[in-house]
Order: sequence, then C-alpha cells, then structure tokens
Amino acid sequence: TQVTEAAPIRATPALPDAQTVTEVTHWTDRLFSFRVTRPASLRFRSGEFVMLGLMGDPHPETGKRKPLLRAYSIASPSWDEELEFYSIKVSDGPLTSRLQHIRPGDQIILRPKPVGTLVHDALLPGKRLWLFATGTGFAPFASLLRDPQTYQDYDEVIVTHTCREVGELAYGAQLVESIRQDELLAELIGEGFADKLRYYPTTTREESPRMGRITDLLRSGEAFEELGVPGIAPDTDRAMICGNLAFNLELKDLLESYGLIEGANSRPQHYVVEKAFLD
Ligand code: A2P
Repeated sequence: TQVTEAAPIRATPALPDAQTVTEVTHWTDRLFSFRVTRPASLRFRSGEFVMLGLMGDPHPETGKRKPLLRAYSIASPSWDEELEFYSIKVSDGPLTSRLQHIRPGDQIILRPKPVGTLVHDALLPGKRLWLFATGTGFAPFASLLRDPQTYQDYDEVIVTHTCREVGELAYGAQLVESIRQDELLAELIGEGFADKLRYYPTTTREESPRMGRITDLLRSGEAFEELGVPGIAPDTDRAMICGNLAFNLELKDLLESYGLIEGANSRPQHYVVEKAFLD
C-alpha cells in the first residue's frame, strides 16, 4: 500500500482573538488611550476588565511565540460599537513598551471574557457614589460614568482623580466634559443628570488648583468641605477604588474607618476595589 504524506497546510498565522486598532491618542509621554473593534459576541458590565496584549517575541530555543497579555479595564460604555482602553507606557514594561507603538490598522489580542468587581452589581443601593482613581485607574470609571445606570441609581456621583502632573488629568477631564454635554445621556436620564456628576481632580507633584493626595484631603476633611458633603457613611455612600496598590490599601482602610464594608459580585456591600494595570 502506498502511504502519501501530506504536507501540513501552512496558513498565515492569524492572531487568536485578534481585534483591529481603530484609533490611538497619546495624552502624555506616559499615557495613551486606544480604541479597537469589538468582538460581535462580547457583552460586558461597565467597570469590568479583559485580558489584552500582543504576540510575544519568539522563544530563544523553540521559536514559539506566546501571547503577552495584561488585564485592561474597558473604558468605553457597554453600548459603544468599539472598545476603548487607557494605558500607561512603561519603557521597560514587557507589554506597554511595545503596545504604546500600535497604530490604526494594527491588530491586538483581546480575550473576550470580561470580569471584575468594579460593577454596580457588587454595591448595595445608596445615595452617593464615590469613584476614587489614581493614574490609569480612571479607566473603569470612564466606562461607568458613561453608563446611564450610574445616574439612575444615585443622586450624586463624585469622581476623584489624583495624578502626579496636570497633563495626566487630561483624559479624565475631557471625558467628564464630554459627558456633561452628552445629549443622549441627557435624553435617557433627564436634563439634570449632569448636575449629579462632580469631578474632583488633584495633583501631587505639579502646581494645580487642587493639590494633594485624595486620601489626605479626605482625612483632613478638606474634600468634604469643598464638595459640600457631610462625610462618608455606610447608610448613604457607596465607593469604588481603582489605583496603585498603596493607594488602594490606604483608601480601603479609610473607608472601613467610616464603617463601609467591602463588597463582591456574590455579596454586594458598600465599596469595591481593584488594582489599576501596571506593566
Ligand atoms: P504622590 O506623587 O504623592 O506619590 P503613580 O503614578 O505613582 O501610580 O501615582 C499616581 C498618583 O497616586 C500620584 O499622584 C501619587 O501621589 C498618588 N498616590 C500614590 N500612593 C498613594 C497613596 N498611598 N494614597 C494616595 N495617593 C497616592
């Protein structure tokens, strides 16, 4: 009998879970945002994250390439046709040293399995929602702030953003401004919705109208005074935290000192926390 050895068909290696970059914006030399096509089947809740990245370099011996993925909060609202992400650029970061060079038309890898705790489902009903961010920790809030439910569920939404320098506030500042002028949101939830949204940016290493870490401004009472709120209490206030590790821990302690309890998807409570992506 004759055995024919068929040569395997060599298809052009397509990226698994590939999506195409549609837009890239560089905000500072450390920060950029980008938009990609959205997998048709992808559903997510505002505030969730996905694993995203690029194909890694070939293994020195085997020559095999593995995807290099990191957790990225989805910054776009769940009704958007595309997905938006907000990222730091780390010059020696395995992923972001390369990811920062993507351009429209390039492909990235996106695992379509959104998860996360910064979701409305993990919080009990309340009157005032606090969103506390540092740096790229603003990303999940960029999604939540464009979600009508955020304004339907709360009388007041206060988003604080602490960054080292003024330029690092630009992404968030522009987003808040665009939300205030968003006619669709106004139509959906009423003209007055924009008045519910309070924006409280602070810088720590460059002069700006409001200086200092939000943690210190809460502790001193300065933030409450300026915002005209009595304080933070478990019967009225809900909070989401997303920033660097030290910030998350410090704010967690602070919220617990006010009597708030940490929640989860399976056990909604007063506040939730998630670490911002760092390469
Ligand atoms: P600072 O400049 O005083 O360190 P980073 O870019 O390092 O992630 O920091 C982002 C922002 O978070 C900075 O303004 C930084 O302030 C602030 N920050 C860092 N650690 C804490 C903390 N434990 N509590 C509050 N803010 C913090």
